[in-house]
Amino acid sequence: MSSQKHLIAPSILAADFAKLYDDIIMVNESEADLFHIDIMDGVFVPNISFGFPVLQAIAKHALKPLDVHLMIVDPDRYLKTCQELGADIITVHYEACTHLHRTVAAIKELGCKAGVALNPHTPVSLLKDIVQDVDMVCLMSVNPGFGGQQFIERTYQKIKELRALALENNTDLLIEIDGGVGTANAGKLLAAGADVLVAGNFVFSSDNPKQTIVDLKAVDPTIHFA
Ligand code: DX5
Ligand code: ZN
Repeated sequence: MSSQKHLIAPSILAADFAKLYDDIIMVNESEADLFHIDIMDGVFVPNISFGFPVLQAIAKHALKPLDVHLMIVDPDRYLKTCQELGADIITVHYEACTHLHRTVAAIKELGCKAGVALNPHTPVSLLKDIVQDVDMVCLMSVNPGFGGQQFIERTYQKIKELRALALENNTDLLIEIDGGVGTANAGKLLAAGADVLVAGNFVFSSDNPKQTIVDLKAVDPTIHFA
């Protein structure tokens, strides 16, 4: 884990879309660091979330960086759109990119941070020849497509392997964990080497989302898992 404090990225997928503005303001006023925005196409994943008009609407009010997670096939088609609409980080799936090196370069040429997401079955070792080029790796700790799923325990091992791979290659990157994250597993995730915790239902289904974000931000891996 890098020395800086971990980042919290509430996943807007779990917000109440009928009062999205209120939820955006809540995140703005909270201790959260990023907005995590899940875009799905019903092809790469068996669900459709929301598209670019919603990203645009979020960007209009969001005061924190936008972490856009593209769960779509052939994401190259929409990188420029994402950047124009205000994405700061664009994450594409390893499994959705035939020419991942080119895609990562294209994201960086747009001036955005480049993220690569791995499905739970995809080994970290496959990133060996791209790890130096990416700013963030998103380890899916559920199968992508839906919020509220159960965390996959194997993720801890993948975090350790990824941190080791980054060190071996003399590079630093953010390790983001997406799916089933809450205060019950946050300490162990951070102790394993995670930097960014995405949390959807754990935040938005709680009685006091702002306080829940404080709780996630306050998790100290050295206390829980020294
Ligand atoms: C799943 C999405 C996640 C999701 C996480 O496909 O990529 O970002 O919103 O939701 P929770 O935290 O509820 O598992
Ligand atoms: Zn996501």
